[in-house]
Amino acid sequence: MTLRVAVVGMGGIGNIHAEVYTEHPDTQLVAVCDFLPERADQAAEAYGCRGFHSVQQMLASGVEFDMASVATAGEENGGAHYEPTMLLLDAGYPVLGEKPISNDIAEAEAMVALARANNLRYGINLNHRFTPAALFAKEWILRGRLGELNMIDMTMWINNPNESSPHFHMRALHPHSLDVMRYFAGAEVTKVHAFFKKGAGRQIWSNVQVNLLYDNGIIGHLRGSYDGNFGAAGTYGLETLEVVGAEGRFVLRDACEELTFYPRFDTQLERHVNYGGMSHFSQTFKSRISHWIDQNLANVPPEKIDASGADALVAQRIIEAAIESWETEKVVSL
Ligand SMILES: NC(=O)c1ccc[n+]([C@@H]2O[C@H](COP(=O)([O-])OP(=O)(O)OC[C@H]3O[C@@H](n4cnc5c(N)ncnc54)[C@H](O)[C@@H]3O)[C@@H](O)[C@H]2O)c1
Repeated sequence: MTLRVAVVGMGGIGNIHAEVYTEHPDTQLVAVCDFLPERADQAAEAYGCRGFHSVQQMLASGVEFDMASVATAGEENGGAHYEPTMLLLDAGYPVLGEKPISNDIAEAEAMVALARANNLRYGINLNHRFTPAALFAKEWILRGRLGELNMIDMTMWINNPNESSPHFHMRALHPHSLDVMRYFAGAEVTKVHAFFKKGAGRQIWSNVQVNLLYDNGIIGHLRGSYDGNFGAAGTYGLETLEVVGAEGRFVLRDACEELTFYPRFDTQLERHVNYGGMSHFSQTFKSRISHWIDQNLANVPPEKIDASGADALVAQRIIEAAIESWETEKVVSL
């Protein structure tokens, strides 16, 4: 079976979605859509599909498709997702959206609620955990190799000079880190405490330290920055995750590049470089979108979709709690 796909928002990221659908053996890209006519038209020509300048126009055209990606951006990289997503969900199409699900909790809730009401799959491109190394590390946790989990620490930083809003860094980048942490913790955050700092010469809160308490007792810490990415570009630049248990800990660098297990009572380490053949973060788009395709082909029930809209909403709530904590100087309960 071939799934016919439409992509809305033809910036850099929408084009990555379009390329994945074009190359995937089980999908056919049938339509692209962008407010900017030149982006839509150029993409339509490049991928040999129909091009539209609004979702309304695309829906009225009668073009047939089975699901859509929404890779719009907007305020804090998430403000524009709501309108096209609501139109598509209302018309009965499963949607894979970009992160953040929204920079506005009420709009995120409305999209999740509409997908649920219409019994539609709604996923978000929380791609960082769709790597062979992350899956392998998760299996270590599930089979008890680390023992009881105690701590989870994440560092995620990139260089991003964007100064568009005070909490752009937290809202646009940390859906990823908080989702990865939640995935490995296997638990929900109940308490949040955060400090922010503006980097040198910056107007926005471009650095953050967040303490987290999960409902299974794990304590977590997130260190984030838009003034970061140290060392040679692209090398150990993006993220470092450490999960610490009673019997051992692991460190996962850059989502897929290096996974090391450190047993607590032994000196022999186990290290995997580019586990499963994945060697760079950029490959996570293909693996995450392919997983979304597989789950649609398998008719997975909407509530079983991995990295769902509901999951993305949880991350966004933690983000808002961190901002509230900084503004009120309090520990915020979720
Ligand atoms: N998952 C990841 O690792 C990752 C990485 C980077 C960016 N992103 C996310 O991808 C998204 C897109 O990023 P980008 O850099 O490609 O943004 P962009 O601004 O370059 O492109 C977005 C496009 O969407 C179009 N658009 C907006 N609203 C529209 C609507 N209602 N109908 C039709 N077109 C519309 C705009 O005209 C624009 O061309 C953002 O949400 C960003 O946060 C995700």
